[in-house]
Amino acid sequence: KNYIIKGLPLQGKKVLITAGPTYEAIDPVRFIGNHSSGLMGFEIAKAAANLGAEVILVSGPSHLNVSHDLIQLTRVVSAEEMYTEVFKHFATADIAIAAAAVADYRPKTVAEQKIKKKAEDITITLVKNKDILFSMGQEKKHQFLVGFALETENEIENAKGKLERKNLDAIVLNSLNDSGAGFGKKTNKISFIDKNSTIKAFELKTKADVAKDIMNEIMNRLHA
Ligand code: CTP
Ligand code: CA
Repeated sequence: KNYIIKGLPLQGKKVLITAGPTYEAIDPVRFIGNHSSGLMGFEIAKAAANLGAEVILVSGPSHLNVSHDLIQLTRVVSAEEMYTEVFKHFATADIAIAAAAVADYRPKTVAEQKIKKKAEDITITLVKNKDILFSMGQEKKHQFLVGFALETENEIENAKGKLERKNLDAIVLNSLNDSGAGFGKKTNKISFIDKNSTIKAFELKTKADVAKDIMNEIMNRLHA
């Protein structure tokens, strides 16, 4: 009798994932942030680990936790910290998935002391953060690189634009038009767009199931 011993499909592969929001400090007690829960990224991490991959999960502030032998979770706060942590791992990653809702801007200066309430109006000058995903696209060699796009208009067109500009292999478009999808929800509705402009639209489902769909689409394209 012949026995075929089959390993898990992503055994030996390293998957780098960003998740959650970033917090950009204004002063010692205040920050600019967003409503990302981190759930989508955490579910992708679990889906990848369950496929046998070694997962590096870099998350901004999130209440979520995960415990899995194959997931190494590193928590960061700001976009700059996320950038630094990501590039400790990118060179050796086989797949990188940017699910974080990274702040596009940060306060130009961080006040050393708590800002006191005085003037009727105050202005905080913001400066652009580095685009972590764009930088991964620039550094990309063998990696399969996947981004997310959140659009409120011209969804497909804008997502394709991001895919090209950031040198991605695929992009996951979040359909906000659907009331059950997005920030703070347990469900999501996505379209998976690859660099050949092949578009696969999925139904509204739990983020755990969306994560499995995303990993399937990536695996289908890994050796293509
Ligand atoms: N991203 C990133 N670093 C940033 C900003 C975004 O890595 N500083 C990543 C996100 O994780 C996501 C993708 O880029 O995978 C797209 O993010 P999105 O906010 O939709 O696009 P932006 O390029 O920031 O453009 P805009 O917000 O103007 O639509
Ligand atoms: Ca953005």
